[in-house]
Parts: sequence; structure tokens; C-alpha cells
Amino acid sequence: MTTFCTEADVSAFPAHVRPYLIPEYTGNCVYECIACAYTGSLDRFLYTCPECGSLLKITDLSFDELKKIPGPVWRDIFDYRSLLRIEALQGIFLFKELLFPAIPLQDVIYLGEGHTALVRANEQLSRHVGADFFIKNDGFNPSASFKDRGMASAVSFINHAIRSRGLTEVLGICASTGDTSAAAALYLSYLDSSVVKSVVLLPKGRVTPQQLSQPLGSGATVLEIPGVFDDCMRIVEQLAENYQVCLLNSKNPTRIMGQKSYAYEVARQLGYETANLTVVVPVGNAGNITAIMEGFLDMQRLGIIETLPHILAVQSRHANPVALWRSSGEYNPMTVSPSVAQAAMIGDPVSFPKVRALVTSDFDDRFTCIDVEEQEIIEGMLQANRCGSVVCTQGGEAIAGLRKAVANGIVAPDRTFVVDSTSHQLKFSNFQQMYFDNSFPADYEIKPRSELVNAPVQLDASAGAVADYLNLKKK
Ligand code: F0G
Repeated sequence: MTTFCTEADVSAFPAHVRPYLIPEYTGNCVYECIACAYTGSLDRFLYTCPECGSLLKITDLSFDELKKIPGPVWRDIFDYRSLLRIEALQGIFLFKELLFPAIPLQDVIYLGEGHTALVRANEQLSRHVGADFFIKNDGFNPSASFKDRGMASAVSFINHAIRSRGLTEVLGICASTGDTSAAAALYLSYLDSSVVKSVVLLPKGRVTPQQLSQPLGSGATVLEIPGVFDDCMRIVEQLAENYQVCLLNSKNPTRIMGQKSYAYEVARQLGYETANLTVVVPVGNAGNITAIMEGFLDMQRLGIIETLPHILAVQSRHANPVALWRSSGEYNPMTVSPSVAQAAMIGDPVSFPKVRALVTSDFDDRFTCIDVEEQEIIEGMLQANRCGSVVCTQGGEAIAGLRKAVANGIVAPDRTFVVDSTSHQLKFSNFQQMYFDNSFPADYEIKPRSELVNAPVQLDASAGAVADYLNLKKK
């Protein structure tokens, strides 16, 4: 790894941050079962508890050591560290001690992920939603979705395993609604192709053409399976259970570690003022919302933030098991119907047990989950994109959820809102086109409104034709 930072550079920084600028803390990270007392070493790839089969998380048993550094000093460390010219610290590993201290800097894979902008919604969009808010657009990541955060940590972990354990063959595999596969294929393709192969399982016809092109372009083996995401997920779970593959879905706890960076960044971008904050997040497999809650918890435990924010989770009515659980108290996997928030169209979210545990332990009065109609989702996206934002259908889902929550008095409009637009608008332009063409199959339950429809106009190649069409006034 090339670094451009010398001892001399570091000596120019204030004394209270200098010892911590280049992180030496490696912690004592272990797999820990969320349901039983199992803990185990990170010296192998594990996705479920070998004793009881439940989900695993990664816990730093030395975490309390980090409390020796006061919260305000941590804030300074992150700020000054961001000025260093060390590639491994430029992305999500800026927060290395909290994020995933076990990975040595030399093994960190950095492809430009993280540090996505917080963009203020313009006046017109705020009026439409009924509150001022920010959009944190994770579509501005390398493969154009938030999945790059988790893939940067998971693939850095693989890279570390290859170097430290001398692995000569790694087969990375995931099921996907289109974005995990794009991110996995991208990050794995950065590693040595004689050692690392990448395979993705996609539900045939249920990822957009743009999403399909991404793993193909990265050279992955792309397998299309009949059914929906949940069917693909069951297959890769069985493969991970019985064969030597490295699962790259968010069931892999090394993914969750990287995705916590979204919370760290939001807190830092807001000057760590989180008491009045609501973060609005679209939910599918529930990995993202798990990571975001865990990230805020890390920061609160270290005194970097004082108060946990409120989380507003949003789902489509066509795939709403978490919203139904929150309103009824009962969790039941469901069969999904088609949704324009297709990347979140999941009936049995793998990380649901983690969500339930986090809500029970720390977020009970700070976690709301609501559902919205397909019409509201697509129009949330279209309205936002007509107002200078760059929002995908899942971002549209989050915006529609915020609008509904404000209208129904679920959240006060004067809170600070950050909406997670989880991927790039361009990945989902086919749904925009279906709206413009009024070509949605009936089960989407979407009727286009003419004021939101747009189409190119065909004209002759002359200034006169353009001027006539636009009714331009002569100078
Ligand atoms: N938004 C986008 C753009 C997604 O791709 C996903 C999930 C979600 C939201 C939901 O996040 O699953 O963490 O609750 N996509 C996965 C995939 C399932 O395979 O790309 P989640």
C-alpha cells in the first residue's frame, strides 16, 4: 500500500490527537452469536452460529478501552485524520477503531466509497414533504449504492484472510436484488483474479438492466434463477452452509461493520447534534438499518454523540414484514408482490432478528416502521428528481415515508431529517420510463399523473423548428 504520510506530517498536528492519527488499535474482535453464548475467532469465514444456527455479529471485546479517549477527542481525531494522505483512511476506515479495528491498514481495500454528501432538499421538495430535510445520497458510491460500504469492509477482511492465512482459492458468492451483486463483483474484481472468483445469483427479470450490467462488466459469473430474491437467498444460505464459499450477503457480519459508517458520517456531518435527529431508511433485507443503529450505538457508548437518534424505517406495502411486525408485535415472513422499490422487495429479511434485538435493547422508543403505497414511492422519486435531487426508487420510498409520517403526526416537522437515498437514480430509470409510458403491469397499482410525465420531442434539424416549438421571442 502506498502512503504519502510521513512522521514529519503527523508532527504538525495537535498533540492531543497525534498518538491516534494513524490507528494502531486492533481491538479483540470475535464472532458473537446474537442468541446464545457462543463466541469464536475471526480466523475463519462464519455466517451463522456453529452452536445454535442464529445470526452472528462481530464484537470488539476490548471496546471499553476506547472509552479512555474522551468523545470530543475522538471527534478531533476523525477531523485531523481526514487530512492525512493515507489511502486506507480516506474512506470508511476513517473511523477504523469503531468500524472494524481487526483489519490492518495494509489490507484495507479502498475504491472511493463513503463520505457521501448531505444535500439539503430544495424549498419546493421540502414543501411537498411537509418538512425541511437532507438527503444523504449513497448512490454516489463507486458501484452507485450504499452496499459499497459493507463490501469495502467484507472484501478488506477477505484480503486480510488471503494474506494472513495464505488462502489460495476464494469463491465470493451472494444473492441479490441487484446492488449487493454489483458491489460484490466490483470489490472482488479488485483482488487477484487467480485467487478470487466471484459469483452472483439474481432473480431472473427482477433486477434492472443497469444492475445486471454491473457484475457482468466486473467479470463475475452471473446466475439467473426463477423466483424472487428470497428464493436466491435460500440457495446461497445452503451453499454457505455446505460448501467452501464466502457469502457476501449482509448475513456476513463483516458486511455490517462497514455499513455502520453511514451512521458515523451522518453524526459527523451534523456536528454530532443527534438529539433532534430522525434518520429515514428504506428496509429490505434489514442489513442497512441494523448497521445504522449499531453505528449510532458505538458513538453513543464512546461519548461521541450524547443521544441516539430516532430511526424511521420505511417499506412498501408490497413487501412490509417489518412494518407489520412493528404495528402488530408479530413477525411473519410474507410473499412479496412487485414493487418499484425492487431492491428492497424482500419478504423475509435475513437480519430481522438483529433489528428486533436492537429495538428491544436500545431503540424501543426510537424506532418507527411505516409502509407506503407503490404510487407514493415512484412519485417520491420523480418529485425529488424534479427538484435537483438524485434519488432512486428506494430513496423515493424513504421520502414517501417521511411525507406520510409528517402528515400523520408520527414525527414533528421541526426535527432534523436525514433521508437515506440508498442508490443512484440511474439504476432505476426503467421504472421512471414505465411511469412515463404508462406501462406498469396491473399488480404495481400505479397510475401515472400527467404533470409528472416527460418525454423527448422529435424536431427537424433547424433553429427555426426549435424556436417555433419553444415559441421563442425574437431579439
Ligand atoms: N436500497 C437499495 C438500493 C438496496 O439495494 C437495498 C437492498 C435496500 C435499499 C435495502 O437494504 O437490504 O439492507 O435492508 N438490496 C439488497 C441487494 C438486498 O441484494 O442488493 P437492506
